[in-house]
This record gives sequence, C-alpha cells and structure tokens, in this order.
Amino acid sequence: MEWSKAQPADRSGLQEYRAKLIQDGLTEAQADERIAIIPKLYREYPAFRTEAATLGFNRLYRTPGQTRFTTEPNAFLVSTVKTLKPGKALDVAMGQGRNAVYLAANGWDVTGFDIAEEGLKIAAENAAKFGARITTVKADFEEFDYGKERWDLIYFVYTDAPIVDPEYVARICRALKPGGMLLIDRPFRSLTDPEPGWPETEQDKVNALLKAWSGLHIVFCEDTTGIADWQQTEASRLEKKHRMVRLLARKL
Ligand SMILES: C[S@@+](CC[C@H](N)C(=O)[O-])C[C@H]1O[C@@H](n2cnc3c(N)ncnc32)[C@H](O)[C@@H]1O
Repeated sequence: MEWSKAQPADRSGLQEYRAKLIQDGLTEAQADERIAIIPKLYREYPAFRTEAATLGFNRLYRTPGQTRFTTEPNAFLVSTVKTLKPGKALDVAMGQGRNAVYLAANGWDVTGFDIAEEGLKIAAENAAKFGARITTVKADFEEFDYGKERWDLIYFVYTDAPIVDPEYVARICRALKPGGMLLIDRPFRSLTDPEPGWPETEQDKVNALLKAWSGLHIVFCEDTTGIADWQQTEASRLEKKHRMVRLLARKL
C-alpha cells in the first residue's frame, strides 16, 4: 500500500508492483507468491479493503478527464424523486456527488458520506456551482451515524454497502422516517458471478434482497442483467454486464 501511494495512478497496479519486487531481488516465483497474497488480504481483511478502496477512489476522483464512470445522475433516482416532495436525503457512498448534487439542486437537503475525501470535496464544490449546499461526511458504512427516523430518502447507488446483512438493514430501516423511501440501484454479485468483497456473493439465496427488506412496503423490485449506470461511459461500456438489482420501498 505504501509503495502504491507513492506511484503515479497508471503505474501503481499489481503488475508494476511485481516488476518492483523482481527489481528488488526476488525471483519471479517469489514475486508471484507475494502478489497472490493481495487478493486474499482484500477478501479477508475489511480494513485492507477499505484502505485500498480509499486510495483507488481518491485517485480516480483526482484524475482529470477520467473515463471510468459517468457524472450524470442515476436515472432510477431521477425518475423516483420526480414523484416525491423534497426532504432530507442520505446518499450512502456518495462518491463525487453526481446524485447528491442533482437532489440538492432540486430542493433536497442532502447529506452524503464516503471514505474517499477527494470525492467529497468535488461534491461540495459542484453543489456550490448550483447555489446549493450539501453536507459531506468522511466515514465508512459502519462508522456513519445513521440516526433514528431522520431521513425521507436513503439511497444506495452503485455501492457495495452490506444491503443484505440483517443488522445493517435494521439500522437503515430505523433511520428512515415513517413514510420515508429506500432506493437501491446497483450490481448484485451472485454465486454464478462472484467477486470478492461484495458481501452478498456468499448469501445469494432466492429473493435475498426482497427478503432482507421485507419489513418495508416494496414499491418496485427488479433483478435483471445489464451495464450499471455508473459505467455508462464510452470506456466502461466495454465491461461485462452485471446482474443488476433495483429496489424502491417505503417505511410504513
Ligand atoms: C462505484 S463508486 C459510486 C459512487 C456513487 N454512489 C455514485 O453512484 O456515483 C463507490 C463509492 O463507494 C465508496 N466506498 C467504498 N467502500 C466504502 C466504505 N466501506 N464505506 C463508505 N464508502 C465506501 C468509494 O469511495 C466510492 O466513492
């Protein structure tokens, strides 16, 4: 991690690290052994995963003219909020704020949190351009204080927050005001399409998402295949399709 931090973004990957190890005197086999540890650390140590994600996303947000993700707001969120009265919204893992800024510009009082402070800075700057203000908090999913009956809308857009973990779901349900809405739009890894670090990979039971949120009134649920909206850029479109889930639910 220390080595990676000191490198330019395009020269901080595993292959470059392997080359550095060999230059430092390891044999190719020894370097491969060291490299193989990294995905294992990522899978098994949440703190390592968080640190790696912070580093990677801060870099991405600082890259001028990046082509990995879209800066347009999420279509499902946009169409949903057109039917709602503006209130207090929470953006979980807000990134550089493409969704928070859209809501704030449309009269919502938005708080967003993320581990990548570079994203939070861009979000606040972009909101100011619309004459809007958003509250940004540097925190991870566990640390953030969601509160009790605090939000009219909580949304999870393209985030690997633990949305099928019963304890986490209970925290979110408690944090919604009565009548408050929950919105999810994200890739959903499954046992047939696993990816380390995405918690539901190990918990892909039939209708897992619906069951997890069954304490809310389900307004809309979709489990489909497609390219996630975050990836709707020329470069990212080439990536494989994901299993995608969308959920809209109301706390009664
Ligand atoms: C793919 S981006 C999507 C950002 C935003 N939701 C959007 O749709 O544009 C995922 C975001 O999750 C954040 N993230 C990753 N792990 C996190 C964690 N443990 N707690 C909070 N945020 C996290 C990253 O920093 C990144 O900004």
